Amino acid sequence: MNDTISALAIDFIAVIGLLLLLLIVGGLIAAVVMYQVDKRQTAHTIRRNYPLLGRFRYLFESLGEFFRQYFFAMDREEMPFNRAQRSWVYRAAKNIDNTVAFGSTRDLRRPGTYYFLNCPFPTLSEDAAATQSLRIGPYCREPYDAPSLLNISGMSFGALSRPAVKALSRGAAIAGCWMNTGEGGLSPYHLEGGCDIVFQIGTAKYGVRDENGRLDDQKLTRIAALPQVRMFEIKLSQGAKPGKGGILPGDKVNEEIAAIRGIPAGQASVSPNRHPEIGSIDELLDFVAHVRDVSGKPVGFKLVLGTTDWLDRFCEAVNQRGSEAAPDFITLDSADGGTGAAPMPLMDSVGLPLRESLPLLVNKLHQHGLRNRIRVIASGKLINPTDVAAALCLGADFIVTARGFMFALGCIQAMQCNKNTCPTGITTHDPKLQKGLVPEVKAERVAHFHRNLVHEVELIAHACGVAEPRQLKREHAAIVVDGGNSVPLNILYPESSPR
Ligand SMILES: Cc1cc2nc3c(=O)[nH]c(=O)nc-3n(C[C@H](O)[C@H](O)[C@H](O)COP(=O)(O)O)c2cc1C
Ligand code: SF4
Repeated sequence: MNDTISALAIDFIAVIGLLLLLLIVGGLIAAVVMYQVDKRQTAHTIRRNYPLLGRFRYLFESLGEFFRQYFFAMDREEMPFNRAQRSWVYRAAKNIDNTVAFGSTRDLRRPGTYYFLNCPFPTLSEDAAATQSLRIGPYCREPYDAPSLLNISGMSFGALSRPAVKALSRGAAIAGCWMNTGEGGLSPYHLEGGCDIVFQIGTAKYGVRDENGRLDDQKLTRIAALPQVRMFEIKLSQGAKPGKGGILPGDKVNEEIAAIRGIPAGQASVSPNRHPEIGSIDELLDFVAHVRDVSGKPVGFKLVLGTTDWLDRFCEAVNQRGSEAAPDFITLDSADGGTGAAPMPLMDSVGLPLRESLPLLVNKLHQHGLRNRIRVIASGKLINPTDVAAALCLGADFIVTARGFMFALGCIQAMQCNKNTCPTGITTHDPKLQKGLVPEVKAERVAHFHRNLVHEVELIAHACGVAEPRQLKREHAAIVVDGGNSVPLNILYPESSPR
């Protein structure tokens, strides 16, 4: 018996030894081959100069992002969203306790930090509540009484996967907010949850285009006839890529997406840099009027501001036509807004950030007597209560967020949205990767995130002594400037008086 056991042990050790030997020999051969390949290739300098060793540089570079995010980055260090911001969303989406202990880790002296200016005697038994709807488009055949101040910003089916769109649609229905289609047209998945829909008309007019890429009134009429579709948003630009149309890489344009958009499958879907019909203020107002006339529903436009001198001419043109001719809303995107794919210089360096452009736009509308006529919808990194409340102080009527809701769906900020390899199934059309995203579960998270974000904005409003978040004004917040002191927003951005 003992002999058999020792014979087996010897065999086992021999097999392991042989395997190890094979591994070492195989490794050596592979190393020699790689060395020769590196030395002879001409595409990579580092690998040519340091054959084999140079490969580690590329490996570490690709792993660096991962290690920084999980092991080295401090809570408030990363971009575009730091861990503290993301964790707040994850907890809100899971509806777990979002209180923190001991004290704030936020550096309150950093320029750009917002403080809210609380009142000494907040109400005792009544909390601030965001329960009031707000009418958009009072003059159109079917105005929209929008129930929620927080809503889902435009992200196309194409940039987003099918389960992501389904989860957002269902989540928006539970939350009672609208979902913007983004520029990729309307899919059955947008409709299936039963939420309110804002249909975005992008520069390629996906979903409402004729064979020449122009607006097809019959298709527009068909979309407008759907009761779920409540408004139309004409996209002039978005913060991440001013001056550039939408870009959907070819490997994300599958048969279904191509059919919804009306384009060939497998080819990159690149929309024009602007609407061919809209090259001036008058043409913009004509287009708004036309879409409103055909659809009977509120119509506005989305843009990121750069130059602002044209805003006076724009408001004057509106007033000349009469306030009925005004767009029903303007969606103002921040220069640091998100995207599925955009060129880096446009993303990094073109357009104004929301904290500058929002007070500017609101002041212009106020000066020209259009403040109550044109609703202002703000977007750009408004994913935590502080930023949402600050945007309300600066004059926003509604808040929309794209990436906030992506985090609620489970986005881990891997930043591969343009590659069809999203590890969380949100921005990929690879069925294997989509498997992990279960719409029924994520819909609940979307609704929780919405409810908890609105609730914590209500807490700020209550601390400031107002009855509802939309009553927050510039005097309720201050912002830290260079030197570490804060300046109230009404001093930094004085409200203009009507002309
Ligand atoms: C994946 C993705 C897709 C987007 N697609 C569109 C789009 O189709 N149309 C559009 O106007 N904006 C699009 N955006 C921009 C967002 O609607 C929003 O304006 C911007 O991300 C700022 O909001 P956020 O900071 O809350 O994400 C997209 C953003 C992301 C992240
Ligand atoms: S996990 Fe990464 S690739 Fe997926 S949506 Fe988030 S940032 Fe984009």
